[in-house]
Amino acid sequence: MSYSKWILCLILHYLNTVKALEFHHSHPRITLSAKDASFWRHSRNGSHTRAELLQGPRVNSIYVGGHRKLFLMDFQNSSRSKEVTMFENECRNHKLPGTCEYDITMVHAVKGGSSLFVCGTNGIQPVCCYMTLSKGDFGPCSVELAEGIAPFYVKEKAPSLYIGDELYTTANLYVQGDGVGIRRHYGKRGRISSSANKTEQRFVGLAVSGPRADPLQDRIYGFVVERSMDQHPEADPWISRVIQVCKADSGGTKSILERLWTSRLSTRLYCGITEKKLHFSYLLDVTVLHADSWRDSRVYALFTNGWGMRAVCVYTMGAIDQVFMNSDFKNSVGSVSKNRSRMCVENSKALPREVLRQMKDYQEMEDWVRPLKDHAPFLVSHRHYRHIRADKVTGRGLTQHTVLFLSLGNGAVHKVLEQADHPFIIAELRPFRNKTHIQNMLLQPSVKKLYVSSSTEVMELDLYDCQSYGHWCEECVKARDPYCGWDGTKCTAASGNEIQDIEHGNCTVCEGAGKNGKYTPPREVYSVSPSAKFFLQCPMLSSHALYSWHHKGRLIECLIVESQCLLLIENMSTELQGNYSCVASEGGYERTQVQYELRTEGKARRLASSLSTFVCLLVTQTLLI
Ligand SMILES: *[C@@H]1O[C@H](CO)[C@@H](O)[C@H](O)[C@H]1NC(C)=O
Ligand SMILES: *[C@@H]1O[C@H](CO)[C@@H](O)[C@H](O)[C@H]1NC(C)=O
Ligand SMILES: *[C@@H]1O[C@H](CO)[C@@H](O)[C@H](O)[C@H]1NC(C)=O
Ligand SMILES: *[C@@H]1O[C@H](CO)[C@@H](O)[C@H](O)[C@H]1NC(C)=O
Ligand SMILES: *[C@@H]1O[C@H](CO)[C@@H](O)[C@H](O)[C@H]1NC(C)=O
Ligand SMILES: *[C@@H]1O[C@H](CO)[C@@H](O)[C@H](O)[C@H]1NC(C)=O
Ligand SMILES: *[C@@H]1O[C@H](CO)[C@@H](O)[C@H](O)[C@H]1NC(C)=O
Ligand SMILES: *[C@@H]1O[C@H](CO)[C@@H](O)[C@H](O)[C@H]1NC(C)=O
Repeated sequence: MSYSKWILCLILHYLNTVKALEFHHSHPRITLSAKDASFWRHSRNGSHTRAELLQGPRVNSIYVGGHRKLFLMDFQNSSRSKEVTMFENECRNHKLPGTCEYDITMVHAVKGGSSLFVCGTNGIQPVCCYMTLSKGDFGPCSVELAEGIAPFYVKEKAPSLYIGDELYTTANLYVQGDGVGIRRHYGKRGRISSSANKTEQRFVGLAVSGPRADPLQDRIYGFVVERSMDQHPEADPWISRVIQVCKADSGGTKSILERLWTSRLSTRLYCGITEKKLHFSYLLDVTVLHADSWRDSRVYALFTNGWGMRAVCVYTMGAIDQVFMNSDFKNSVGSVSKNRSRMCVENSKALPREVLRQMKDYQEMEDWVRPLKDHAPFLVSHRHYRHIRADKVTGRGLTQHTVLFLSLGNGAVHKVLEQADHPFIIAELRPFRNKTHIQNMLLQPSVKKLYVSSSTEVMELDLYDCQSYGHWCEECVKARDPYCGWDGTKCTAASGNEIQDIEHGNCTVCEGAGKNGKYTPPREVYSVSPSAKFFLQCPMLSSHALYSWHHKGRLIECLIVESQCLLLIENMSTELQGNYSCVASEGGYERTQVQYELRTEGKARRLASSLSTFVCLLVTQTLLI
């Protein structure tokens, strides 16, 4: 086989694989834009390359870091919103005047929420400060050195965690790069670093693995993507890993691992379908959904591959721990795997020299971490997802469902239900008026709000916004949104007692819904003059439904224009009089969406003629496309 044929064959193989993977319902069921749902808007003064988001002091409020400024946005009462210009003094003292370009790269709540820890970048002179808050007002900020804490560049992603009095960071230590690693600052146990790696690395997430029964055993997990050292042309250029360090670690002795982690272990995160040779090796984002027991806590990881496809793989903390506790060490011989300690110790400085040497020499595990669910990705898609967030929703009879939020390249967010067989995309939310790049997302599970930021705006999305699914029980149940349910009169925020069927969206549950839930389609009567051009329209709310028109027992297909199912009447005549119904059929359930009765009359209504002009425009538009 020639080379080009082989390549073609490979491409066809991929396309077939991809087709097989594209699940039946890979489209969002409904699309909600600002005109259909209530999204709350807050503009950021200026234009920003980055958005650091942190829960604010009140419900419906968040802190937003941006270019030179820190904002407090209050979505309930905008007169309580504030902004402050950060690092003005540092700007004044700057070596090169006129280059004061600070971007905020880190915002943490510290000291029980009474202070903020804020860091900013200036190309090569990052700076951090502790800001005291008094009654929600920004106070003065006392400056700290930011070496190895905050990124040098506004585009450098460096996740960090402030736990108690300890700060864990992953920023680059050197302007030129290559100094990425987990570091700990402040606190009683002192500063600990990672020995710099020669290969290019980017940290994507940091999480606590705990609290465990013995707090001494609590660990920090870092999720990282690094350039592969494998020079083989078919090898993936990137590999993704999870790295652990013990919270209790205080480093080694003067001769071995001084001020470096003695508990650092690393393993690969696998995401793909081995038998189809489909691998996702570039980690884009991770989010952790904590469970009552740390072992059941789940890591939702978003990956991409060289084909630009996306996959979400789900891992448990228990599975990660299993590999770190039991796998052999890579390139180890004989008894090392049994001897090398994997437990966190009270005082790592007191460890015997032999043990420390092993800790230095053996850090990489032989086994990889594999995802839940038969080791396959939970979702595979061609959509350009960029961020992932996960929420747990308690529904009817205390059943729990997981909902994922995946940001898209055009400013939209997919709300996805996690279910056993395949993901169900409940809705595409389009909070922004224009296409835009989503910089960051913050989920506030306690109040069920999602914040989404662009370069100029931050939007608040109420996850309990259920009215937009429709005004009938069937529509509410078909939506399969765990945040919503039918309370007998409307689709409303779920509290556990509503009518709902998240698993199947089976509308038969509505039969006992009472007369308010009974669906009666709207009906309109039009008088149309003979020979007139005319059209009827029916909104196509669900992309999972098939729509058609029915007239005197005859089925007429839709003309689909901008999510409307249209029926064109080229030349009105007496035979075309009568009742028309637009029927939506979805998963074995049929219902009449709208009904019209057409009558011929000597004189047409004005409405009819203006509509016909509109349809001419629409049809021309469609033909031109
Ligand atoms: C935006 O910033 C400008 C200049 O810093 C300031 O004069 C203006 O009041 C700010 N606008 C708002 C809404 O804060
Ligand atoms: C909004 O906040 C301002 C300033 O704190 C306060 O005076 C006002 O009463 C608040 N309005 C409402 C509706 O809460
Ligand atoms: C760092 O470098 C070491 C040795 O060069 C290598 O074994 C390891 O895989 C690299 N990456 C990480 C994340 O440890
Ligand atoms: C492993 O530990 C045993 C007993 O503690 C010791 O005899 C042996 O030499 C150790 N092996 C290595 C490779 O360190
Ligand atoms: C959306 O785009 C239009 C045209 O490009 C522009 O005039 C308008 O200001 C934009 N709106 C927002 C909210 O950015
Ligand atoms: C819906 O539920 C009813 C009653 O449980 C059942 O008879 C019917 O087959 C279900 N329909 C679908 C489409 O699953
Ligand atoms: C509409 O139908 C009538 C009668 O069937 C016919 O006379 C007329 O020419 C038609 N008009 C158009 C525009 O086709
Ligand atoms: C259209 O339907 C309505 C209500 O179902 C009925 O009253 C009416 O007689 C029907 N019209 C025709 C022409 O069938």
